[in-house]
Amino acid sequence: MKQDLIEQARAVLARNDRGDYTVPTHGLYPFQWNWDSALSALGFSHFDEARAWREIETLFRHQWDDGMVPHIIFHEMNDGYFPGPEVWATGRAVPTSGITQPAVAGFAVRRIHARAKNRALADAQARALLPRIHAWHQWFYTNRDPQGTGLVAIIHPWESGRDNSVDWDAALARVPTEGVAPFQRRDVAHANPAHRPTDEEYRRYIWLVQHFRGLGWDNSRLHDASPFRVVDPGFNAILIRSCLDLAALADDLGEAEIASASRAFAQAGIAAMDALWSETHGQYLCFDRVTGALIDSPSIGGLLAAFCPIPDHRAQAIAQRLDAIGTAVPYLVPSHDPAAPEFDGLRYWRGPVWLIVNYMIADGLKRAGQTRIVRRIVDDSLRLIEQSGFAEYYDPVTAEPCGGSSFTWTAAMVIEILNAETAPA
Ligand code: GLC
Repeated sequence: MKQDLIEQARAVLARNDRGDYTVPTHGLYPFQWNWDSALSALGFSHFDEARAWREIETLFRHQWDDGMVPHIIFHEMNDGYFPGPEVWATGRAVPTSGITQPAVAGFAVRRIHARAKNRALADAQARALLPRIHAWHQWFYTNRDPQGTGLVAIIHPWESGRDNSVDWDAALARVPTEGVAPFQRRDVAHANPAHRPTDEEYRRYIWLVQHFRGLGWDNSRLHDASPFRVVDPGFNAILIRSCLDLAALADDLGEAEIASASRAFAQAGIAAMDALWSETHGQYLCFDRVTGALIDSPSIGGLLAAFCPIPDHRAQAIAQRLDAIGTAVPYLVPSHDPAAPEFDGLRYWRGPVWLIVNYMIADGLKRAGQTRIVRRIVDDSLRLIEQSGFAEYYDPVTAEPCGGSSFTWTAAMVIEILNAETAPA
């Protein structure tokens, strides 16, 4: 059974492999996506280390001069996706989008490096990537935390990676729609419209893109100029974790300056994160930097915070919260609280389960010693795969596969999880 699943997962990766990068899935997402690539490299690393490194190397080849690593790289033209390069108009030789995505590459690179069999290749690759990843982290703290609070904001819902979360509803409602050029969505031709965002939300997404484009994609101006500025605990946890992993890698490779700068970012972030804790919900919440208030939306972003070293009592509270959620739905971890009125088990980030998020939450809680809930998350993830294949996401109540099928990072997580199952502790 286990070997069968690994073979099937490898076939999914092979199908979406474009040589130097993978597409998340064929049809719906025909380009390279930032955090998809970093997480998918983990899957490749179990059977082809050179290919795993190439995935991340390709991503960083398209890093901007200011340090940003874009969320999409349009390697090949394909009119099956909207918004395409002509809408972003970022002026790059190989076109990219103009926003970023969760900074998980630092974590992925350290993990791939730590377990690499080809040590010479791993050292060479990690050494080349180290300053680039560090430049990206510096870019975040300079451009997305201009006041030096310790936490970075996203300026577009798509940066979060949790594109359509309930977390963004109130902040997105303040984004205007006047002046948005008429467009035709492509996503609804590939996936069930009932699983996707609404047209109204799409107009606001595009307004933000047009607004940033009008500012020449000058990142030193975009944060303050954006009507959408949200601090997401999950997003920050990923960045903090990557800073810590980069620090450890820098120690190994004798790069003391990168190590100490990275630790300083992480420490400031962990300290600032506590202000996002909600006693009422027993988890972290997002913070709206425009209104100066916490966003009363109990989503998976506040649980994903456990991916970085939060205090033990917080990790324990999150484990308890997951226990409670686990009595409400058969499959952990739903992307939104099943008891909340906005919960929708089928709609994109408003309820469904994503295996990559399960993997990161489980990883963080394992470090915190919360082994019982980790077991449950891993078991639920495997049951989803066995019942419903390598889908983009799953209904946490029925296990129905949703969104795109034959999904790269889902397959990568299966390889990663199944290998960890048999690895010595
Ligand atoms: C969706 C997801 C995002 C992901 C992309 C490609 O936009 O919300 O997180 O990176 O699909 O899989």
